[in-house]
Amino acid sequence: MNIEKLIILAIILAILTLGESKPEIVLINKGFSQYNVTNLSDFDDNLNATFAQLRDELNGGKYFATAEQPRGSNSAYAMVQCRKYLSSADCIACFTAAESLIRKFPPANGARLMYLGCFLRYESSKFFDQSTQEGRVASCGNQTASDATAFEIALSGLLADLQVATPKINGFFAANKRAIGESSSLEVYAIAQCVESINESGCRECLQVANGNVKTTRCLTSTAGWALDVGCFLRYSSTPFFADNQTTDITPFLKTGKPPNSLFTTLYLKCT
Ligand SMILES: *[C@@H]1O[C@H](CO)[C@@H](O)[C@H](O)[C@H]1NC(C)=O
Ligand SMILES: *[C@@H]1O[C@H](CO)[C@@H](O)[C@H](O)[C@H]1NC(C)=O
Ligand SMILES: *[C@@H]1O[C@H](CO)[C@@H](O)[C@H](O)[C@H]1NC(C)=O
Ligand SMILES: *[C@@H]1O[C@H](CO)[C@@H](O)[C@H](O)[C@H]1NC(C)=O
Ligand SMILES: *[C@@H]1O[C@H](CO)[C@@H](O)[C@H](O)[C@H]1NC(C)=O
Ligand SMILES: *[C@@H]1O[C@H](CO)[C@@H](O)[C@H](O)[C@H]1NC(C)=O
Repeated sequence: MNIEKLIILAIILAILTLGESKPEIVLINKGFSQYNVTNLSDFDDNLNATFAQLRDELNGGKYFATAEQPRGSNSAYAMVQCRKYLSSADCIACFTAAESLIRKFPPANGARLMYLGCFLRYESSKFFDQSTQEGRVASCGNQTASDATAFEIALSGLLADLQVATPKINGFFAANKRAIGESSSLEVYAIAQCVESINESGCRECLQVANGNVKTTRCLTSTAGWALDVGCFLRYSSTPFFADNQTTDITPFLKTGKPPNSLFTTLYLKCT
């Protein structure tokens, strides 16, 4: 290996290490299609245009965007989403990291990168309405909570509530926390998020699968974990990763059934 190559390698390593030191740019999952594009220059043009559109949307303060270039022989469709507790600048930084890494993949006609803070995906066909698919996964760290039983009760309750509430919340994002045990000052923190191009039932279905995967992966006593699918993301930790004032009030969304309609309420009140 010659000296130029070594220098370039050192720079790449430095960039990768810097990226990792920023907690939300931690890469947790990646995948790409086995099929190469048929017309690389066409696809490259279209992909560049969609990525540029996504960046414009994020620069405009958005946390979710899709873009499409259905022209030429190789169409490109792309999607980005950031966790809403990030600042807009951190969201753009996460997208920038994802964009530069996804470019290093072989010229596949589809790829996706999932970071704690954001994800980026592109395909040669439209995928924006997908909510749950093969490739979904849950994962958690090695560390078991000190009071595992109380932790599991708190966490499963919190995730169940997020699963119910998040699909009903405009923007499909909720962050919440729960005390571990009655008298403890310890808490568990969690977020749930769906892509904004699916509907409420798609979001509900996705979070149901993700929550189920946290359980079947035996992650409920682990101090930190996540579950992902094409349409949603769940993450929890015993250490806070969003600010107190970013907590979502989910209680209005947990009531079962429809809110009483006013006619019924009126009649009911008259009868009693
Ligand atoms: C796709 O392209 C990459 C890089 O050009 C090559 O290594 C790989 O073998 C190709 N895959 C297929 C299935 O053609
Ligand atoms: C790719 O598509 C462009 C424009 O659609 C065309 O000019 C070019 O010849 C194509 N290249 C190949 C290798 O098919
Ligand atoms: C697309 O973007 C990549 C990376 O920024 C660049 O290397 C490439 O030349 C661009 N391709 C076209 C067709 O503009
Ligand atoms: C989990 O524990 C194993 C064995 O103790 C260790 O090799 C591995 O690096 C740990 N993984 C994490 C994510 O801490
Ligand atoms: C939600 O979206 C899915 C996928 O596009 C569709 O099949 C379903 O009918 C939609 N449900 C409602 C209630 O709109
Ligand atoms: C939350 O509080 C911090 C200061 O602690 C403040 O900078 C930030 O703007 C607040 N965010 C919201 C959403 O209110």
